[in-house]
Amino acid sequence: MLLLNSSNVLSASTFVSGNPLRSPVNNGLLGVFEPEAPFTLTAHETTYGILPGKTTRLWVYEVEAGGKSFINPIIKIKRGDYFNTTLRNELPEPTITHWHGLHVDFKNDGHPSYQIAQGDEYQYDFQVQNRAATYWYHTHAHQRTAYQAYFGLTSYFIVEDDEEIDLATKLDLNFGETDIPLVIQDKTFSSTGNLIYNQTQMMGSMTGFLGNTILTNLTSNPYLNVSTRTYRFRILNGSNARIYRLAFVNGFTQMPFQIIGNDGGLLEQPYQASEVYLAPGERVDVLLDMSKSRVGDTIWLKNLSFNSMNMGMPGGGMMGGGMMGGGMMGGGMMGGSSLPQGSQFSILKINVTKRILYDKKVPAFLSDITPIDTRGARIRPFNLSSYAMRWLINGLSFNMDQVPVKVNRGSTEIWEIKNPYGSGGMGMTSMGMMSMPHPMHIHGFQFQVMQRINSPQQVKRLAINATGLLPTDMGFKDTVLVWPGETVRIAIDFSHNLPGSQRYLLHCHILEHEDNGMMMNYEVV
Ligand code: C2O
Ligand code: CU
Ligand code: CU
Repeated sequence: MLLLNSSNVLSASTFVSGNPLRSPVNNGLLGVFEPEAPFTLTAHETTYGILPGKTTRLWVYEVEAGGKSFINPIIKIKRGDYFNTTLRNELPEPTITHWHGLHVDFKNDGHPSYQIAQGDEYQYDFQVQNRAATYWYHTHAHQRTAYQAYFGLTSYFIVEDDEEIDLATKLDLNFGETDIPLVIQDKTFSSTGNLIYNQTQMMGSMTGFLGNTILTNLTSNPYLNVSTRTYRFRILNGSNARIYRLAFVNGFTQMPFQIIGNDGGLLEQPYQASEVYLAPGERVDVLLDMSKSRVGDTIWLKNLSFNSMNMGMPGGGMMGGGMMGGGMMGGGMMGGSSLPQGSQFSILKINVTKRILYDKKVPAFLSDITPIDTRGARIRPFNLSSYAMRWLINGLSFNMDQVPVKVNRGSTEIWEIKNPYGSGGMGMTSMGMMSMPHPMHIHGFQFQVMQRINSPQQVKRLAINATGLLPTDMGFKDTVLVWPGETVRIAIDFSHNLPGSQRYLLHCHILEHEDNGMMMNYEVV
C-alpha cells in the first residue's frame, strides 16, 4: 500500500450530502436493455433531474420496448447475436451513432459521412463478433461529436460470452449490484441546472472542454453502499477531454485493486495496481476487494493530481507557469475551467455498510490472449503535431473524402504513434509547437500495445515490463493514450470476414480534437 501525502486527499466535507449512485435497473436512464428483436433508438432532446431540485436539458437515446422506456440504455448482448436497430434522428441537427470498439463493416460503423438529417432514419444490422467486453456507443456527427456527446449522447454496449459469464459465476458478480458500470464525465452547470458548453475561446478547442462538476453515471456527488466483498467496476471515461488518474483511497492509503480487463475485454491475468490513468474513450475493468474493510469505513474513488503536460500553448499569462510548474495550471485554465486538467478531486464515495462473508478467489488465469505475430509487419508512422491552432496527424487535418492510409486485408501492421514534445518554454510565439497527451482511437479493429518508448516519469513508474507497458496496455485495446515525448507502437491484425473493402477512422478521442480535424480515414482494401 502506498501512502498519500495529505494534500492529495480532499476532505470528506466536499460531499456533505451525497446522492445515491445511479445504478443500472431495468428501465429509465441507464437502464439495462437486452435487445431480443429489432428496435428503434431515437435521438432526441429531453429534460432530466441530474442536480437535486433542478432539471437539465439533455440529448439522449431512447428505446421503447416491452412497455418500458430506456434512456441512454446500457445495451447488453451476447457474442454472436445479431444487432438490428433503427436510429431515428429527432434532434435539430444531423447525427449518427458509432459503436465504439466493435468490429463491424463501414456501413455499420457510424462514420460521419453517414450522418442523417433531422427526421431521418438509419438502419444498423450486424453480427456481434467481438469478445466480451465493456464497449460503448456515442454520436459521431461531423464536427459536432463533442457538443452532442457532452449533451448526453453516450452509453454502454456490453458484450457477454461464456468466459465472461464463467468469471461472473466464480466471483458471484451480479450486473448492477456487484458488477457496476461507472461512466465518469465532467460537465459545467448553469445556476438553473442546464449544461454549459462554451467553446468560444480559441484555447477551448485546443485543450478540449473541461467541466467543473464530475458526474458518475450522471449522478453528482454520488455515493454507493457496499458490503464486505469484492466488487467489479467497469469504468468508462466518457468525458470530452479530461484524463483521470484513478485511485481508491481509504483514509490516507491507496487501496490495491486488480485490473482484469480493458477496452477489448479480459486480460490474460489480473494485475495488481494502486492507480490507473484513464483517458477519454478508454475503459478499465477492476476488482476491488473490500472483504477486509469494516462497516463504517469510507473509501473514495478519487482523481489524483498529475502533470497535464499541456506544453507550448500560446497566449495567456499563466501559460508559462502551467508548462513549467507542474502543469496544474496548464491548459485547463485556458479552456475556461475552474477544475484544470490534472487537478485532484473526489469522484465516488463508497460506504461500507454491511458485513458479509465472501470467500471467492480471483482466478489466476482470466483469458487466452494470443500475441499478434508481427514478424515481417510493415511499420507505419503516425506523427502528432499542431499547426495554426489545429491538431494534426501526419501533418493532415481530416478530409471526409481523402483516405491517406490503405492497408491490405489480412495483413498485420505496426502503427508507430509519435507525440513529440512541444517546443515549450516561456514567451512562446504562435509558431511554437504545442503538445499534450492524445488518446488515439482506431475504428474497426482491436489492437495490441507492443511498446512505450520515452514515457514521461509519471507514466514510466507504472510500467510492468521492460517494453514500458502499463497493466492497462495488456490484452486488446481500441484507444491508447500517447503522452508528450512518447512513441507508442501497436500491432493490428487486419484479417476480417467482412465483404469488400472497409473505410474506418483513426482519431484522437479528445472530442474537440476529433471535431477540429485530428482524424483520418483509413481503408482496408
Ligand atoms: Cu469513440 Cu470514433 O469514437
Ligand atoms: Cu470508435
Ligand atoms: Cu488530441
